[in-house]
Amino acid sequence: MVTTAFHQAIEEGLTASSKYISSQFFYDDQGSRIFQDIMRMPEYYPTSCEFEILSFQALQIINKLDFSEPFNIVELGAGDGIKTLQLLRKLTELGAYFHYVPIDISAEAIQALEENMARELPSLSIKSLVGDYFTQMEVLAQSDIPCLFLFLGGNIGNYEAPQVDDLLSQFYEQMKPGDKLLTGFDLQKNPITIRRAYDDSQGITKAFNINLLHRINREMGGMFLPDQFDFYCDYNPKNGEVRSYLVSLKSQDVYIEDLERSFHFDQNELIWTELSRKYTFAEIEQLARKNGFRVVNHFLDCKHYFTDSLWVK
Ligand code: TRP
Repeated sequence: MVTTAFHQAIEEGLTASSKYISSQFFYDDQGSRIFQDIMRMPEYYPTSCEFEILSFQALQIINKLDFSEPFNIVELGAGDGIKTLQLLRKLTELGAYFHYVPIDISAEAIQALEENMARELPSLSIKSLVGDYFTQMEVLAQSDIPCLFLFLGGNIGNYEAPQVDDLLSQFYEQMKPGDKLLTGFDLQKNPITIRRAYDDSQGITKAFNINLLHRINREMGGMFLPDQFDFYCDYNPKNGEVRSYLVSLKSQDVYIEDLERSFHFDQNELIWTELSRKYTFAEIEQLARKNGFRVVNHFLDCKHYFTDSLWVK
């Protein structure tokens, strides 16, 4: 039996006094497919807001880059790349000399992305990397080509405050002076709008969370009965945090073969699965400053729900 990082994280998270499963494990191939469905839900506004920004403000973003050619557009956690396509198309139309370097942990997502790009933008120079951001960023740091790093989709909101600083300082380390970072931040707004986006009536978000249990069953011989769990989510407008949970519907013990033990769940016990933080502009600017970056510009959608914030090292 191979013990993976996933095995270790599950053992740790399910023995903690407040149980948790880190949201990084949502995105296996099946989870990535369900996330595609979330992004197509009308209630899930972040995707369409960011799509709007990258479509209608591509030229404004490009004008702020101020790069010599060739340069790299490096996308961290690329997914299907549909939003990025808008920016890439504009760059291509302008005749810019650049390479698109998508990095994703899911090989299936990268393959789908390459097929998309080959169809939509056949002339694009694409150099995909499968793996985790930092290992791959280190490779890129060796070259002296200017880089724009894309960290889109409000990914950053999924990290607790100390981890956000860790992440940004690791990005900073791998960047050269003049390199830029475009990060998506979901902004604080009407709390009802936010709650709807994270707790849809069709149960897609529930399926996304329950997939974690299926994944444990698939990958480590878990005996979870997914029907014995539900999904709960809560938005606190006072601190901007959406927190998502699995809820055990009864008192139960679940055996996981590879870990050679079972785990107890009380009735109504929670397994925390994700934080999705919503930001104010003041918080974003403070984050940039604190981690050594300068804010170049905020690019907003017309409803001002979301910002792609451009920073320079
Ligand atoms: N990381 C995404 C977000 O914060 C993913 C996501 C959307 C999500 N809806 C969710 C994660 C519900 C957990 C629960 O927007």
